Formats: sequence, C-alpha cells, structure tokens
Amino acid sequence: MLLLLLIALSLWAALFLPPVIYYAWMLKKKKKGLCIQPDANYQPTVSMIVCTYNEAKVIERKLENIQELDYPENKLQIILVDSASTDGTLERVKVFLARTNFRFPIVLISEKERLGKSHALNVGLKQVNGEIIATSDADSFWDQDALLKAVSYFADPSVGAVTGKEKILNVEKNVHTMGEGFYRTFFYTLRSGESCIHSTIFFQGELALYRRNAFKEFEDRPGYSDDHGTVINLVSNGYRCIFVPEAVFHDTAPFSLGGRLMLKSRRSEHLISGVFLTLKLKIKRKLPLPWQVIFFNLYFHVISPFLLIAVILMTGIVYAIDFRTLWFFGFLLIPLLIKKPRVIGVSYLTSNLALIMGLYPILTRKRSGAWRKVEEMR
Ligand code: GDD
Ligand code: MN
Repeated sequence: MLLLLLIALSLWAALFLPPVIYYAWMLKKKKKGLCIQPDANYQPTVSMIVCTYNEAKVIERKLENIQELDYPENKLQIILVDSASTDGTLERVKVFLARTNFRFPIVLISEKERLGKSHALNVGLKQVNGEIIATSDADSFWDQDALLKAVSYFADPSVGAVTGKEKILNVEKNVHTMGEGFYRTFFYTLRSGESCIHSTIFFQGELALYRRNAFKEFEDRPGYSDDHGTVINLVSNGYRCIFVPEAVFHDTAPFSLGGRLMLKSRRSEHLISGVFLTLKLKIKRKLPLPWQVIFFNLYFHVISPFLLIAVILMTGIVYAIDFRTLWFFGFLLIPLLIKKPRVIGVSYLTSNLALIMGLYPILTRKRSGAWRKVEEMR
C-alpha cells in the first residue's frame, strides 16, 4: 500500500512540478527583457492577408476594424482571399467597399474551391508588395495601435516575425471562456520568457507579422498550421520570432464544451506537430533554441496529458484499496469549491483532453487540412 501511495505521490509531483519550474524560469527571463529595441517611428510597407471562408456574419466588422488602424494609407495593402464561401461573404465585401471610401488599397481574390487557410495565404502571398506580411482572421479585431506597435520591432534586423496578445471579448461568460482567459494568461508568460531567450514558436495567426524576405511560403502541410508551422522555419533560419504583448487583438472564445474541444483539439494537433518538428530540427542542430525549452514544450503538449490520466488512475486505485486515503487526497479537491480554482481545474482538464484528441490524427497519420468552423465564436 505504501509503495502504491508513493507512486501516486510521485505522479502528482511529476504533473505539477515541471509547470511550476518552467513558469518560474520564464518569469525570470521575462523580467530581463527582450534585448530588442523597438523603434516607434519605423513604418515599413505592410501587406495584410485576411482569409475568409463563410464569414458573412463578421466580415463588415472586420473591414471597419482594418479601416481604423493607425497606419499611413500608402503603406498598408489589404489582400482578402475567399475560398468559395457559400454564405455571400464576398458579395458583402463588395457592397461594403462600394458604399465606403476604404482607406487602404485592397485586392480581392476568390478561390474556386476550399483548400484550407494556409493554401489561401499562399495564394494571397503572390499579390503582396509589402516588406512585412501580416495575417489576420475575419473574427479577430485589432487595437488601433496594434500594427504600429508590432512593426516597431522589425526595425531590428534580427527579428523575423512578431505575434500579439489575445484579449477574449466574452471572457466573463462562463467557466469555459474564463478558463480560456486563464490559459492565455499562463501561456503568455511562457511566450514572453521564450521570446526573451530567443524565440517562441507559439504564434497566433489572428495577429502575426513576418518579414517578407525571411521566408518563401506559409507552411501548408496537413496537420501543421500557418502560424507555428511557418515560424519554426524562420527560427530555424536564425531569425528571432517574438511575442509582443502590447500588440493586442480581440476575439471570442467558445462557450460550450463541444465548441471548446472542437477548437482546441484542432489547435492541439497543430501545436503537437509543431513541437515534434522543433524536436526533429533540434536533433539535426538546426534550431537555435535551448534543449530545455524544447523539452518543456514536449512535456506540456505530449507528456502531461498522459501523466494526468496516470495520476487519476493511480489515485483511484489507492482510494479503492484503502478508503482512508480519501483524507490524504481529499484536501486536493477542497479548492474546487472556490470559483477560480474550479475554473482553472476545468480549463486544465479540457485542455489536456483536447491535447489527447489532437494527438490522435498525428498517430493515425490522418492529419487534417481545412477545418470546421466553430460557429459560436462569431
Ligand atoms: N480562404 C480561406 N480558406 N479561409 C479560411 C479557410 C479556408 O479554407 N478556413 C478557414 N479560413 C479562415 C476563416 O474564415 C478565418 O478568417 C480564419 O481562416 C481562421 O479560421 P477560424 O475558423 O476562425 O479558426 P481559429 O480561430 O481556430 O484559428 C486559429 O487557429 C488557426 C490554426 O489552427 C487562429 O490562430 C488562426 O490564425 C490559425 O490559422
Ligand atoms: Mn477564429
């Protein structure tokens, strides 16, 4: 019995110590700063690619949001690539452009069939004329100064890509949206720390900017995403790819369990593919990131979900054998009576479940391309 108890306790420690250690390490790195001087006056030419598939509900709001961006008219080009939407997205765009005096030059591209967002981005890439390529989504809305803030870091030639910080519009709605808010806060500290060491590979395509001459095309292999996938190539070529918290965008989080799992399992597939790719590149000595960063991210995205299952099983076995251990482990459940730990607990469980779901298409070699949209986010 004692041995089983010790195993259970070691598993609990293996589950909780690495996140605490990595978080503390990244917090320390974050405090040291990026060692990159942003230049507030730096205003390169930018081409922003927005991909759409059935975004009639939000596309006008997105265009209005772009119009409000603080950036010179002659330095920002917009490229909208629609992949055979059936809900009249493109028609809405045309009506909007006809009735407003859109501030920036805009190119509309209409694909005959839907081949996924990364494919659409590469189609858009053929039309760009900017030194910096920005990507954004129809359902994400940037702060007015987000573009200026983000490009200011490209004044440093070592910077290859920049991503921004998400603020969740409906964060207070319920346990799932609050949980996503917590997840973001935790991970943004890690992203900041990694950026201070060299780079983070965890990018968000809702607000991502890339130096045009630092990459050829967006990563378009099934299972990889346009953001992490592309950034890993840039880091591997020696560019720094950084998270910039002052470049803010807003979007909506799913509020149902089904919506949350659908979104997070697909993103998990992308994240895990990215983490495996970093491991492969590191082994080939083609990635200027420390081993510890690779290992901890492998731990978070691949090892930890299975450890969690082992912890639950082992604790259950210990309970079953000796019910008195309820006193021992029971205290771990007390915090769940309070709202914040409960939110964190639910977020932790669902995120780990999504990671296991995301691993499935990778292991069965059925990696996905185009994905199903989560309607409740619009
Ligand atoms: N043209 C085109 N073709 N656009 C597409 C397609 C497609 O096949 N599929 C999706 N999109 C567009 C959507 O209309 C939206 O503007 C954007 O791509 C993002 O799609 P969402 O459905 O909103 O996905 P998300 O919010 O989960 O996206 C996040 O993860 C993706 C990778 O998994 C963001 O970080 C994305 O930027 C990222 O690409
Ligand atoms: Mn989205």
